[in-house]
Amino acid sequence: MSIYIDPAVGASLRGFEVPEKLGFGTVMAPVMFRAVYQDGCWSRGELVPYAPLALDPAAKVLHYAQSCFEGMKAYRTEGGGIALFRPERNAVRMAHSAERLCMPPVPESLFMDGVRTVTAYCANLVPAASGESLYLRPFLIGTQADLSVSASTSYEYIVIASPSEAYHAGNMRLWVEREDARAAVGGTGDAKVGGNYAASLLSIARLKKRGYDQSLWLNPGNRKTVDELSGMNFFAVMDGELHTPALNGSILEGVTRDTLIDLARDLGYAVHERAIDIDDLLELVRSGTCNEAFACGTAAIISPISVFGDGDGQYELAQAPGPVAERLRAALLDIQEGRVDDRFGWMQSVEPVSLKD
Ligand code: COI
Repeated sequence: MSIYIDPAVGASLRGFEVPEKLGFGTVMAPVMFRAVYQDGCWSRGELVPYAPLALDPAAKVLHYAQSCFEGMKAYRTEGGGIALFRPERNAVRMAHSAERLCMPPVPESLFMDGVRTVTAYCANLVPAASGESLYLRPFLIGTQADLSVSASTSYEYIVIASPSEAYHAGNMRLWVEREDARAAVGGTGDAKVGGNYAASLLSIARLKKRGYDQSLWLNPGNRKTVDELSGMNFFAVMDGELHTPALNGSILEGVTRDTLIDLARDLGYAVHERAIDIDDLLELVRSGTCNEAFACGTAAIISPISVFGDGDGQYELAQAPGPVAERLRAALLDIQEGRVDDRFGWMQSVEPVSLKD
């Protein structure tokens, strides 16, 4: 199906200036993609000026949280081109999240139409500085106006974009969250749904008052092993080897996590996907066996961890950022920003659309 381009898109893009200071996710591109699902069918996609959504106050998403999303990036590459990083992984993961919430998965071709069209029209907005990118946020919401607890019969798939710096650049202080649990195995732990992020906010608000940046979530079943952060996966370096929690149903299968495992093995590091007991980890930090830890994600890239706070205890990492995190970050950005050959076939180039006056 061809994509409808609203005639007002050109004026919206031409009238838009990218501010000098970007931050993360605060500057919105002036266009967005949308497609509507109704009576079992998807409409054709349209590129329209960025604008507030018209939602009925009884829309299912507002009451029963039928909402899932993805985070992905378009990069300006060394040769001047624009490319997406492993977008098919996001399409598959969003379909998984949608199914968990009883929503119709966005067909991969429509998912890709959305991200590729927004990227092509916003090519001029993709920042050039290393570590910056056009952050893309595809999402799916249930729109039917009906307060019964049942799956919506109508949906919208929308893609917005934001020229951004990395999320959480710099060292992070983590608080070991022993009080609250976030998302369980058999629940929505391995789905990228808005509710998981809402459930992490109270913990973050509490730990900020104690001088920390992010929660380190423990497995909600055993309250003993490390799961992830709110929006990032976790890695620790012990005796020069990498350890990351195994996918266990309450951890999101991060695209960056998966990529770093491949890159690290390619660089000769041993990588262990396993259950990491939090008390063992803190002891290994104290003894110096674990001298480095970092979090990773599409938005964050790689964020070094400088300290774990747990009750009255503080466990400082010897190196933040450490050499392993720095080497992996450089290797990842070298591929994403086109400085080295894409040996893994991870990049998909996008042809920019040039706007006529
Ligand atoms: C991403 O890394 O793209 C995410 O969706 C995490 C979000 C909390 C910024």
